[in-house]
Amino acid sequence: MKFLDLFGRLKSVVIGMIHVKALPGTPLGCLNMSQITEDACREAEIYRDAGVDGVIIENMHDIPYSFSVGPEVCACMTAVCTAVRRVCPVLPLGVQILSSANQQALAVALASGLDFIRAEGFVFSHVADEGLLNACAGDLLRYRKQIGADHVQIFTDIKKKHSSHALTSDVTIEETARAAEFFLSDGLIITGAATGVQADPRELRDVSQSVRIPVLIGSGVTYDNIELYLDAHGMIIGSHFKYGGHWANDVDPDQVMRFMEKIRDLRKKK
Ligand SMILES: *[C@@H]1O[C@H](CO)[C@@H](O)[C@H](O)[C@H]1NC(C)=O
Repeated sequence: MKFLDLFGRLKSVVIGMIHVKALPGTPLGCLNMSQITEDACREAEIYRDAGVDGVIIENMHDIPYSFSVGPEVCACMTAVCTAVRRVCPVLPLGVQILSSANQQALAVALASGLDFIRAEGFVFSHVADEGLLNACAGDLLRYRKQIGADHVQIFTDIKKKHSSHALTSDVTIEETARAAEFFLSDGLIITGAATGVQADPRELRDVSQSVRIPVLIGSGVTYDNIELYLDAHGMIIGSHFKYGGHWANDVDPDQVMRFMEKIRDLRKKK
């Protein structure tokens, strides 16, 4: 199985989030590329030294998000991802490019030697805070084939946070999950309503029972609620690893260490 081959385990894989500082040309952008890259690498080293199972790199500070992602975003993200790959030569690494720049993320992953991407809007449509987002699976998997990036796994959000799902209110999350599996997703990501908000453990159970592909938790996992999510294949953690538990702050090494110690204990007991 691709997931096991990549992470070396099938349950409770911990993926630490690096929120890249605002890139040049975005409204909050104020750092130059060497500063942005150094910050990302410092956080990657914290995650690596704390023993996380993987890291994902996302341009989360590029608010407000837009569907038109300029060439400079791909260039800058490639520079950052390549530098992070250099400090973490063997750690599984992924990238997400906002907003829903999934083909761009695949190209960046290929160029930087990364292992996976997180893709929004894989199946069905929803209204995101940046606008209407449509399914991308057909074009995205053709693109992956075309550029020779079949080894880059695509983990896909379903009924994603920060979004209205009124358009698909007659489609359950289980049906959405099965549609994504049918469309060859490498793993599903379940989230709460927003960044840092806890995902519903019942949704994890229901979705896990509906599909045979991996299911990851994409928001709200903390030291205090890990027990609820141990059956997930993986958990992507950003906010909880930051100072004060806020996504926009820097990664707090003590917080990551503390979490990893607890999860290592819990895995032994299982
Ligand atoms: C980036 O900014 C820092 C701090 O202002 C400065 O020391 C450095 O020379 C700059 N690097 C480049 C490549 O401009």
